[in-house]
Amino acid sequence: MGGASDLDAVRASLAARYGDGAVPTIAVTDTILEQLAHRSVRAFTPRDVGDDEVRAIVAAASSASTSSNQQWWSVIAVRDPAIKEEIRALAGGQGFIAAAPVFLVWIADLSRAVTIAREGDRPTGGLPYLETTITAIVDTALAAQNAAVAAESLGLGITFVGGVRNNPLELAALLGLPHRSVAVVGLAVGHPDPAEAADVRPRLPQSVVLHHDRYRDATIDELRPTDADLRRYFARFGRDRGWFDSVLSRIRGPEGLHGRHRIREQLDERGLSSR
Ligand SMILES: Cc1cc2nc3c(=O)[nH]c(=O)nc-3n(C[C@H](O)[C@H](O)[C@H](O)COP(=O)(O)O)c2cc1C
Repeated sequence: MGGASDLDAVRASLAARYGDGAVPTIAVTDTILEQLAHRSVRAFTPRDVGDDEVRAIVAAASSASTSSNQQWWSVIAVRDPAIKEEIRALAGGQGFIAAAPVFLVWIADLSRAVTIAREGDRPTGGLPYLETTITAIVDTALAAQNAAVAAESLGLGITFVGGVRNNPLELAALLGLPHRSVAVVGLAVGHPDPAEAADVRPRLPQSVVLHHDRYRDATIDELRPTDADLRRYFARFGRDRGWFDSVLSRIRGPEGLHGRHRIREQLDERGLSSR
């Protein structure tokens, strides 16, 4: 990077991401510029995503760091329209799940660890602890995010789908998941429909999320500009909502969790416990 037009591109990307709170300068690479341009894509053209692209995406996922190299994740690439339709129904009825040519289901997966232990009849008393479950879920999320960045670098569009946790037991049965595994998040992947009414969404300024040496509480006045940024963003697409609305709607009560308030018992049942 270096030319004047490059600098303009960086400034424009930062302004889209941070609104008025844009940081004045950053060291950018092509990777960072691509990450700055991320937006969730929920409308796809009919064009397929090839198996070679899926393999490239999964190679990127496999390259993510993984706690102690345990590799406690798996991914299911769902193309079958009937299965995608069932996932859509279980995951909040979100139409783009079935419309995406490929829907990747990211699985926290302790089943291979059990296979290894069984082989030598070795103890597995560390499995039921919350730390083990957290480790598997963190590994899975890191792999999925690497996959998302890889897909976007291929010109594909993605949206994560937490809705796969709305009905985790039914989804596990549908996908034939082994005991000690559970779907953590889905990733709809396809070619972006350029007509989709969406753009880069503003985020909290770095003055709020980046702390130096010690944590500093943000005041409500420091949070208000992000609410206003998001309200302006949604107004562009004819929607009347701000950022506070989505935060308040999520935390208002168990009903804001889309059925996921039962997740602890369901994880227990799947063999990912929280002792
Ligand atoms: C773990 C996770 C779960 C998500 N689940 C859904 C979902 O079920 N449905 C959906 O439309 N978007 C979902 N999203 C996408 C977010 O809504 C989106 O990332 C956020 O609004 C910011 O928008 P952007 O990605 O376009 O910047 C999810 C994102 C993450 C990280």
